[in-house]
Parts: sequence; C-alpha cells; structure tokens
Amino acid sequence: MSTTAHADPHADGATRRDFLTLLALAGAAVGAGAIAWPFIDSMEPAADTLAAGEPIEVDISKVAPGQQIVVMWRGKPILLVRRTPEALKTLQSPSLLHILSDPNSTVLQQPPYANNWHRSVNPEIAVLVGICTHLGCVPVFYPNPSATDPQPNWPGGYLCPCHGSKYDLAGRVYSGVPAPYNLPVPPYRVVNEKTLRIGENPAGSDFDLNSIVQI
Ligand code: FES
Repeated sequence: MSTTAHADPHADGATRRDFLTLLALAGAAVGAGAIAWPFIDSMEPAADTLAAGEPIEVDISKVAPGQQIVVMWRGKPILLVRRTPEALKTLQSPSLLHILSDPNSTVLQQPPYANNWHRSVNPEIAVLVGICTHLGCVPVFYPNPSATDPQPNWPGGYLCPCHGSKYDLAGRVYSGVPAPYNLPVPPYRVVNEKTLRIGENPAGSDFDLNSIVQI
C-alpha cells in the first residue's frame, strides 16, 4: 500500500484511480466513528504475499450480522459483509430491483459463481471490491434501512462520498447515478465456515478479475 501512496496521481488513469481510492480510504477512516468499518488483517499475510498479489485468507467468524470488515488484496479494499436475513429479503424486493441499473448482473462484473441474485457464493456473505465504478472512490457502508440517513427512504447499502453513486448490499448500482456498473466481485473461495480465500477461485473455475468490464 505504501508504494501506491507515493504514486504520481497524474501519471495515468489507473494510478489516478489508486490515488482517489486512497483519498477516500483516508476520509472514511477519519469519519468512521458511526460506521462499522474496521480494517482487518486477520490472517496477517506477509508483506511479500500482499505485494505479489497472492491469495489471502480472511477469518470471517467474528463478523456479526450487519457488520462489514475490509481487507486489502492487490492494493484494493475488499469489503466483506455478513448480511442479515432482512437484508437478504430486501435484495429480492421488487421495490429495490426496479431502481437498480443492472439488477440481474448481466454485465460481467463478477465471477460466474457469483452471478446470482446475491452476487456471492454464500448468500449471507458479500465479498466486493470497494472501488466505485465511476471514478474509484470507496463507497461508504450504510447497512441499515432508514427513513432519513444517509438519504430519505434508504434501504441499506453503500453511498459513494465523491459524487453520490449508490449501491445495494450486493454491490448493485442504482439507476441515474454517475457510476455505470455494479461493484466488482473478486475471485474467492470458501475454505470452511470460518475462512474465505480471496484471490483464488473454487475448483473448476478460472475466472480472472482482469476480464471484468470495469474495475
Ligand atoms: S467516484 Fe463514486 S460517484 Fe464518483
């Protein structure tokens, strides 16, 4: 992460995106008081593992329903959420589906094994790349439905602090916002009840994150 932090933000598009990501991460960290947004290095991968972009293992056993943890993989924030039964119900509700841009994930923004209504392997656990598909800020986690916060009639999801793009708790983008695509889903596999391995596909899949439409 430190090498990215010193990159020239004007060098090229990809670097600018990294820069924006870091800016948003810094802002989110400062304003994280009311938001469950802990960074976790639960399995403490070695620095050379992270630098090489190797798969990392994440312990999700302590993530309570409705909570999110964030880990870094290949310099990207990976958002892991344990969705509540209510949140899973909301993801299927017609009133939400009709305000989403791509409710059925027709655009390639996820591996084939996450091309379903919950965009994940296990419906309860969301795994998303936390980079807004507009210009790369990190969307802020507002999991709870609210009449007022952060916006009127909020069903629970993510709000991008940069230009207001909205995503649901499966990373599906709303219609009429600047972001054009759903949040990417990284390759990952379920090792056991407690552990996910980010960056490695389940047996039989050769999904490559670079094949998606936009990250
Ligand atoms: S970067 Fe997220 S809305 Fe612009």
